[in-house]
Amino acid sequence: MYSLIFRLLFVPMDAERAHHVSFAALRFLDALPVVNRLMRLILGRGTRDETHVLGLRFPNRVGLAAGFDKNGEGVRALSALGFGHIEVGTITAHAQPGNDRPRLFRLRENLALLNRMGFNNQGARQASFNIEEQRRALTALPAHARPVIGINLGKTKVVPAEDAVEDYAASARALAPLADYLVINVSSPNTPGLRDLQSVSSLEPIITAVKSTAAEVVESPRSTLGHVPLLVKIAPDLNDDDVVEICRLAVRLGVDGLITTNTTIDRDVLEGEEADFARSQAGGISGRPLAHRSLEVLRLVRQTAGDALTVISVGGIADAKDVRARLAAGADLVQVYSEMIYSGPFWPSRIIRGARSRGLLAAK
Ligand SMILES: Cc1cc2nc3c(=O)[nH]c(=O)nc-3n(C[C@H](O)[C@H](O)[C@H](O)COP(=O)(O)O)c2cc1C
Repeated sequence: MYSLIFRLLFVPMDAERAHHVSFAALRFLDALPVVNRLMRLILGRGTRDETHVLGLRFPNRVGLAAGFDKNGEGVRALSALGFGHIEVGTITAHAQPGNDRPRLFRLRENLALLNRMGFNNQGARQASFNIEEQRRALTALPAHARPVIGINLGKTKVVPAEDAVEDYAASARALAPLADYLVINVSSPNTPGLRDLQSVSSLEPIITAVKSTAAEVVESPRSTLGHVPLLVKIAPDLNDDDVVEICRLAVRLGVDGLITTNTTIDRDVLEGEEADFARSQAGGISGRPLAHRSLEVLRLVRQTAGDALTVISVGGIADAKDVRARLAAGADLVQVYSEMIYSGPFWPSRIIRGARSRGLLAAK
């Protein structure tokens, strides 16, 4: 049914427009009193599988990755699909329009997406109002059904690299009070120079500033760790030595975890004519072609950091088997995005139930 809707309605539509239409429809349905209950019953069926990670209670181990709800406007609606956590953002200190359109492309043969959105978002101040409103709306749900809210922070494009520390700190000041966990995103390929911030010398002061700012502005964190858990999201295009360096830095600075990985700039992961198309376009690739490297980076992080870091694995997860493989490779949680575009609103709960039914979600 969804594949029919996808082909007839969404494929002829620009991919970004399709995103806005479907997200708006979901939020509309979630705002209707009886309909929203039905939606939760049908779409979120069988997704309860509580687990504790980062000192937080997660309804299950599968979350929605950053980039879908950039401004924190639809957390409650998205949780109706069964997600145990929603990572909002990337949010930057200042509002910005992102790159020119078109900036999101479906690579259907490869079941992938190419995006160069460029952190289009309403800025930290407006996002804080949005997320506050979502938190109020979530109180209408039973406690066990409330998703964890992660907030993903990025650098404002016009802010020069030498002012990046203060820019991240400004976002943390506005948003840490609303976050169950915070993420420093230094891995998007679509903000010039951003990924250079993954070097140890650039990353260290950013981590230190975000940590201390969060500690300043949050008196009673929601996590039993006693602080707002902080994670760093890294790129799949780092070489293995750099991944190891970042792991060591994260452990040394008391970072709570890593999110592995963001999109890739590698075009060799694609096959056929879409690879040629992608070579002519700027942007990051997500979806199935990313799965191999994402799993490799997860294994490397786990091998390097042992149990010292929480790891959220994301990149190319397509079914319950993939979820189980990531958990077996040492992920504490997983996130998804691109596959949902191809497989529809019933897909998240399907993979959560599928992974659960073999006892592996619970066994972790
Ligand atoms: C359209 C789009 C926008 C994205 N925007 C962000 C973003 O703002 N911040 C971020 O950290 N990751 C962003 N991502 C990356 C995803 O969070 C995720 O790391 C990546 O897509 C790999 O997961 P997937 O293969 O399941 O899609 C975006 C991905 C897509 C497809």
